Amino acid sequence: MTTRPTTTDDAGIPAPSDEHSQSVGPNGPLLLQDHYLIQKMAQFNRERVPERVVHAKGGGAHGFLEITEDVSQYTKAKLFQKGKRTPLFLRFSTVAGELGSPDTARDPRGFAIKFYTEDGNYDLVGNNTPIFFIRDPQKFSDFIHSQKRRADNHLRDNNMQWDFWTLSPESAHQVTFLMSDRGTPASWRNMHGFGSHTFLWYNAGGEKFWIKYHFKTDQGIRNLTAAEAAALASSDPDHHIRDLYRAIESGEHPSWTLNVQIMPFEAAADYRFNPFDLTKVWPHADYPEITIGRFTLDRNPENYFAEVEQAGFEPSNLVPGIGASPDKMLQGRLFSYPDTHLYRIGPNYQQLPINAPKVPVTSYNFDGPMTYRNMRDPVYAPNSAGGPVADPAPFEGADYQVAGEIVRSAYTLHADDDDYVQPRALWENVLSDTDREHLVGNIVGHASAPEVTAEMKKRVVAYWRNVHKDLGQGVAEGLGVSNG
Ligand code: NDP
Ligand code: HEM
Repeated sequence: MTTRPTTTDDAGIPAPSDEHSQSVGPNGPLLLQDHYLIQKMAQFNRERVPERVVHAKGGGAHGFLEITEDVSQYTKAKLFQKGKRTPLFLRFSTVAGELGSPDTARDPRGFAIKFYTEDGNYDLVGNNTPIFFIRDPQKFSDFIHSQKRRADNHLRDNNMQWDFWTLSPESAHQVTFLMSDRGTPASWRNMHGFGSHTFLWYNAGGEKFWIKYHFKTDQGIRNLTAAEAAALASSDPDHHIRDLYRAIESGEHPSWTLNVQIMPFEAAADYRFNPFDLTKVWPHADYPEITIGRFTLDRNPENYFAEVEQAGFEPSNLVPGIGASPDKMLQGRLFSYPDTHLYRIGPNYQQLPINAPKVPVTSYNFDGPMTYRNMRDPVYAPNSAGGPVADPAPFEGADYQVAGEIVRSAYTLHADDDDYVQPRALWENVLSDTDREHLVGNIVGHASAPEVTAEMKKRVVAYWRNVHKDLGQGVAEGLGVSNG
């Protein structure tokens, strides 16, 4: 006979009963002195942290990155040196839906990776698309408000979404991706990931480069049609969580090939597109993708709350050899993520096992709610008591010159900058006839929701006509709007 452990309360004291509260006689009222019952109810009331304000619904897994090529001439980042293997945790997500929302909703997918490197954590918090809806963080909360729920009826509202998009022409490229079948991936395993922003790499000699990350799925791209996605939304709202969990559980470990595009530092100034504009890609003809490694997911979380819900990713976690670029969106995100974690998870979120680096932390920050980092004297710097000292050496090569007037302004335009040229290239040169047909159908379906006004439908047609006249024509016909 196997002996089972005794239940305890949270102080480790043996629990008197898993079934019965303490009462005055079998039928009498309960007693406040039943601490075990009180603790159980009080703890239950505190089981949730707030859901993420965006990307609330998701799932994740552990894995590792392996670098197969020598890129030391571009970066000294230790995790990108040939032969290196780095543990990681990846969280996938949808953006606009709440915790219980369906995984197959039309939405970009988050693709957030925490690399536990020997120089501390490096977080790459990307999406399954190489671009985004806007290019200035000033517009982010407004954009998200337009995608979530109305103030009055608490409903999501397609009219509101098209209102924002059609008034923000820089969204056209991302909305083209979103409305294509890539807006409803078959599973997280069957989509690419992108760092999306441009980042800085610098090597041991101080040479600098601009780079973009592409994680290409080794499982192949597979998407759902709008009808398939809608059917799964009701039959299995957790379809993507289930798919990833089951695959890993059964030993099918998904992997992604890591490619980078590398631009010489000096080439940015007069490149034909603004290379820091998050609504643009770097066309492959200009900067081909170079394969440098692969990552694999091979281990499911043991506890969803501890590892997935409490994971806190932050684009500001940048290790030596890697830096930020002047992309205004990235600059905004450097502030936003650590700030939201301080609120959502708590001041010592970085001490939780999922967020803690796998190297010693010797910072002078300490105390606060729920800390268990045992700070030792000296508690200040500079000190003459042998405490840790900061070292600029690993960051040598990261600095570069910027100058200009303090303004509130759009980016200055580069030769080919235009909001429609890249979505037009996608429509004209990349999408198949079937892709185009589905794109038109998905837009028409979305803009046919009862709340979308006749006036808004005209604006929707005008928006797509700017991308391509055939696309505008298809949408006009589908919505029953004259294409003028
Ligand atoms: P290329 O023909 O060299 O690249 C086209 C890219 O599009 C490939 O990365 C391809 O990779 C991807 N693609 C293929 N089918 C689709 C689809 N249905 N939806 C979205 N992406 C798809 O041309 P360019 O580099 O000149 O880019 C042309 C356009 O392709 C861009 O304007 C952009 O809209 C889109 N694109 C470009 C990317 C880039 O980094 N240059 C990346 C992704 C898209 P795969 O099939 O493996 O996804
Ligand atoms: C999550 C802000 C743009 C990808 C979040 C969260 C915030 C936020 C507050 C919630 C984090 C949490 O509670 O843990 C912003 C701001 C942006 C921006 C202010 C622009 C100014 C982007 C872009 C991308 C992106 C451009 C992708 C390229 C993600 C991902 C998550 C996320 C993947 C989920 C991370 C996770 O799995 O925990 N964002 N975001 N965001 N964001 Fe952004």
